[in-house]
Parts: sequence; C-alpha cells; structure tokens
Amino acid sequence: MKPIKVGLLGLGTVGTGVVRIVEGHQEDLSSQVGSPIIIEKIAVKNTEKERSVAVDNAKLTDNPLDVIRDPEIDVVVEVMGGIEQTKEYILEALDRGKHIVTANKDLMALHGAEILAKAQEKQCDVFYEASVAGGIPIIRTLIEGFSSDRIMKIMGIVNGTTNFILTKMSQEGASYEDVLAEAQQLGYAEADPTSDVEGLDAARKMAILGTLGFRTNVELKDVSVKGISQVSKEDILYAKRLGYEMKLLGIADREDEQVSISVQPTMVRTSHPIASVNGVFNAVYVYGEAVGETMFYGPGAGELPTATSVVADLVAVIKNLKLGVNGLKAIVPYKAKKLKSDEQINYKNFILLHVADKAGVLAQITQVFAEYGVSLESVVQQPNDQNPDAEIIIVTHNASKASMDKVLSHFESLEAIRRIKSVYRVEG
Ligand code: NDP
Ligand code: HSE
Repeated sequence: MKPIKVGLLGLGTVGTGVVRIVEGHQEDLSSQVGSPIIIEKIAVKNTEKERSVAVDNAKLTDNPLDVIRDPEIDVVVEVMGGIEQTKEYILEALDRGKHIVTANKDLMALHGAEILAKAQEKQCDVFYEASVAGGIPIIRTLIEGFSSDRIMKIMGIVNGTTNFILTKMSQEGASYEDVLAEAQQLGYAEADPTSDVEGLDAARKMAILGTLGFRTNVELKDVSVKGISQVSKEDILYAKRLGYEMKLLGIADREDEQVSISVQPTMVRTSHPIASVNGVFNAVYVYGEAVGETMFYGPGAGELPTATSVVADLVAVIKNLKLGVNGLKAIVPYKAKKLKSDEQINYKNFILLHVADKAGVLAQITQVFAEYGVSLESVVQQPNDQNPDAEIIIVTHNASKASMDKVLSHFESLEAIRRIKSVYRVEG
C-alpha cells in the first residue's frame, strides 16, 4: 500500500499532539484508511529547538515552502497559526493540488470563503474541525448531523482560556493575572493571549459556527465582541449570589432569516447545563427548529484534544482520496445575510449601580426604565460596608439592545447615579 505523505506546518502544542497521535495510533489509522500515514516534512521557526516529541531532524525545515512545494506530499496540516502569510501558503498548496487540514480559526474566520472557493476550484479538501472548540466535533455536527434541521440558536463557551480563568476566579478566588499565566503555560492561550481575553478568539469561532449553522456568510465584523478583562471578582460574586455563573458566551441566533452574533461575558442561570461547564472545557448548545435542544461538551484546547480533531480531519481527507471525492464537501453559504438591527436584538440584562443613598433615587431610576419601555424582573438594594453609596442590582426582562443603550446613556446624565458599575447580558 502506497503511504500517504503528510507535510506539517508547525510543531508547537498542536503539532506535537499530531505527531504523537499519528505515530501512537498508526495501526488503527492505517487500518481505517488503507495506507500507512507518514509525516514527511515539518516546518518550524527554529530547527535547533529542543522538542518534546522525537522527530527525525532531517524532516525539519524552517521554510514552509519546502513542505508546500514537495511533490511527494499529499496533505498539508497547518498548525502554525498566522493569517496573511499563512493564507498565501495555503492557497499555493491548494494550487498545487494538496489537501489542507488546519486548526487556524483566525485564518478561517477571515479568509475561509476565499480558501474554500479555491479548494472547490482545485477539487481539494479543506477541513478545519479543530478550529472551533478543540476536541469537540462541532463543525462536522453542524454540517452533517444538522443538515436536515433549521438551526435557530447556537450558544457556546468556545474559548478554553477564558473559561479556565473565570472558573478559577469563581471557584478558588484566584487572581486574573495568575490564572492567565497558568493557561499560557498549559498551552491553552493564543500566542497573543489578548485575543483570548478580549473575546476575539471566541468571535472568530462564532463567525465560523454562524456561517455553518445559518448557511450565510457571517464575517468577523458582524460579531459584536466584549471580552473578560473588565470582569471583577466582585461581579462573579454577585452573579453567584443571584444564582448565576459568569461565562464568556458566544451567542448566534436567528428569527426568520435575521441573525445576530455576539460574544460577551454573560450571567448564565446555574440551572442551565452550560453554567456547569468549567475549566478548559468548552460546550456548544445548539437549538434546532425540529430537534430542539442539544449540547456538545469536551475539552476546548490543549495538545491531544486539539490534535484528535486535526487527525480525524486527516483521516477524512485520506478516505475521500481513496474514494476520489475530495473537494465535494465544502459548505459554501447560500443564503443572503440579514443582520438584526439593535431594535430586534432582545435579551435580559443585569445592571449594578452605585447611587446616592437618599430618598427618591430609586423612583428616578425606575422612571428611566419606564420611559424607554424596559420592564424589570427584580430590583434589589443591598448594603456594602466598603461603599458609602447604595448599591442597586437590577435584572430586566427581555429588552431590546437599542432601548438598553438609551437607558444607560440616560443614566450617565443622572447626578444621583454615581457609577454604572457593571452591565451583563443574562441567559438561561
Ligand atoms: P504554538 O505557538 O505552540 O506552535 C506554533 C508552531 O508553528 C511552532 O512549532 C513554531 O515553530 C511554528 N511556526 C510558527 N510560525 C512559523 C513560521 N513562520 N514558519 C515555520 N514555522 C512556524 O501554537 P499552537 O500549537 O498552540 O497553535 C497552532 C494553531 O492551532 C494556531 O492557529 C492556534 O490558534 C490553533 N489552535 C490551538 C489550540 C491550542 O490548544 N493550542 C487549540 C485549537 C486551535 P517553533 O516551534 O520553532 O517556534
Ligand atoms: N486559545 C484557544 C482557547 C485555543 O483557549 O480556546 C483553542 O482554540
């Protein structure tokens, strides 16, 4: 049996896992695809670096073009990250008829449409299961498992680093900075962890999920994004006291054909299954018109979980090669995109205000909500020894984003409101 030769771009956290799985599971893998799988060449930045997995030094190169232009290589596995230059490498590899497996959500969220179009033209596969939610096969699930349904809502914890941070802050009272450093050390965080904590990584993943789920071309600019860097231990405590967990949630939903996609720290009611997803684990909740509620759970980052998805894609490419059906499975969005306006985006809100502790203030506040048609679920004033002002916690019923923006900007002008301390979306 002629071996299938694979070129690897990157031998970091994920690349190392790919080598371990391809070598460690070789017997099973080759039985499934009918050929041995050989990692023929590996591009890295520094060929001298000590590696945590044994690789033949002769296979290493510091030039990705050595991999892409090697006529022996059938499949290029891209796990080095990067956007513009990496896109050029992938497009050239496709031009040369090579199939692509990538874990790169940055690349797929920004240039997925162009890459998939080129793949179709060249009859090549481009699979990217590991790009969203690491070890959870959510992309295959959306494309195949839900092909018969209309997906109405996708709600996910899709960033392992931030879930790891929020969990440790919530359960151990750990500091944000210490937990971020631990996530970096464990290989969960991106090379620049700002994209994790500011929500950009999750936004890119939600653009990919939204595109697949709604079959329309959701772009990164369509996703409204807020990260966790402003979330305080105090906010997490308030959430707990009211029966919520704080999670960085990606939420994509649609009504008729209008969609909205956002990423933000969200207070999730503890009775919702997504509230108990902790640590580096991810979960994606999918609501289909016919199937109803479903949820998919698993590790969202890290060496072996991510590599499991990468190698599963590799198996799928090779099976397609054997059947001669590569390039037929790319999902090209076919629906025109219609984004919801701020008047159409509705959700519950948690608001923590520091206000002057005197008569009539509560009446002023409720008057503002009434003026913009926002109905309230609960209003609680609680004492806080550390704070001479009164603290008022308000949870609204579903309210439009447009109305809430008006309420908050009106609050800015009220003298009695000393500070709008926190505002969070509420789910569940
Ligand atoms: P790492 O930083 O650990 O590894 C990157 C690898 O790519 C390194 O081996 C590096 O070489 C090599 N590399 C980087 N730039 C170049 C270049 N220009 N030319 C040649 N080699 C290069 O990243 P990860 O393994 O964590 O992530 C890889 C990809 O997978 C990213 O797109 C990431 O977003 C995605 N991903 C990561 C997950 C995770 O849990 N870590 C989970 C899901 C997706 P050298 O070793 O010499 O420095
Ligand atoms: N930095 C990402 C995360 C890696 O923490 O989820 C997985 O995509």
